[in-house]
Amino acid sequence: MLGIVKYGELVLTQKANEVTEFNLNLEKLVFEMHDAMVRDHGMGLAAPQVGVSLRVFIVGIDGEPLRVFINPKITAASEETSEYEEGCLSFPGLYFNVTRPSAVEIEAVDVRGKPFKMSADGILARVIQHEYDHLDGVLFIDRISPAKRRRAMAHFSRMMSM
Ligand code: NI
Repeated sequence: MLGIVKYGELVLTQKANEVTEFNLNLEKLVFEMHDAMVRDHGMGLAAPQVGVSLRVFIVGIDGEPLRVFINPKITAASEETSEYEEGCLSFPGLYFNVTRPSAVEIEAVDVRGKPFKMSADGILARVIQHEYDHLDGVLFIDRISPAKRRRAMAHFSRMMSM
């Protein structure tokens, strides 16, 4: 079973590598990421969060099929933005309102390397953007104001040391 990497580990702030081999190891990674996400009640998970620096993320919104994005590119984002309270499995117990584009278009390949594109809005667009950021080493705390981040991080360090 893969454990979830928490804030402070280098892999979370590094740019992840493109997937070049579509094989059983990749399927196994996706399967194990799904297990870890379900176990921790997440709606999405990126490979760096299980310590694997690859451009892979999954989205599993309640009642919807699991979506797998490999080597994704967000090709368009709406000018309209929205604010929504986000959490992150790498920051247990921390939630903030984050402003992001309300809708995006994304291209990626699936676990067999087959390309697809999709448009997303609402919660799906939200989770896609959060997980996509993880592949570039960008965390949700990087998307809030410095003052808010300082307060949140002080709170997070206290919680993690308890
Ligand atoms: Ni996250």
